[in-house]
Amino acid sequence: MVSILMISGSVRRGSVNSAVIATAAELLPADMTPVIYSGLADLPHFNPDLDREPLPHKVAELRRMIGESSALFFSSPEYAGAMPGALKNLLEWTVGGTEITNKPIGWVNPSTMPNRAAETYASLRIVLSYTDANPVDQACVDVPIPRSLIGEDGIVRDEAIRSAISHAMIALVSAVRL
Ligand SMILES: Cc1cc2nc3c(=O)[nH]c(=O)nc-3n(C[C@H](O)[C@H](O)[C@H](O)COP(=O)(O)O)c2cc1C
Repeated sequence: MVSILMISGSVRRGSVNSAVIATAAELLPADMTPVIYSGLADLPHFNPDLDREPLPHKVAELRRMIGESSALFFSSPEYAGAMPGALKNLLEWTVGGTEITNKPIGWVNPSTMPNRAAETYASLRIVLSYTDANPVDQACVDVPIPRSLIGEDGIVRDEAIRSAISHAMIALVSAVRL
């Protein structure tokens, strides 16, 4: 099975970034399976003392899901000039494993702020480099998405935005197929 693990950096209800994830999942080619990660809020705080077998249950589950995926896809807000602590925490748990090594990475940054949450995505790239992940340039894109364009079902319906997200997904999937 070829699957894409999709991770929103936001845990709040009505999240723009979670809407990006849900929309991207819908737009994946039919032969790809989207797996939306929903455990972000439940991960324990990273602790090197716990980063050994037996791993905390939620961490073992995360690493298994990463290991079973063919690529990872992110969308994250910026809080106070950086990625949310919850997402950094998730990434810290990945450094001790080898599951991400060489895996294609994509993201859609939906920030509409003037600085486009640039610090967050620059640091996402840096943190992922510690796991030898493979960010795919054409799959790592800024697509400003106002909250008003998210439907009640949590999906973005705007055609131009869907097309931009779709292009990112196609680039990510192409890297999987190489
Ligand atoms: C406490 C707090 C701090 C924020 N700091 C930033 C920031 O530094 N840069 C930025 O671009 N947006 C910032 N924002 C705006 C959020 O990134 C924005 O609301 C985003 O859409 C939230 O994503 P979500 O709807 O997926 O949770 C901040 C929001 C909150 C609540």
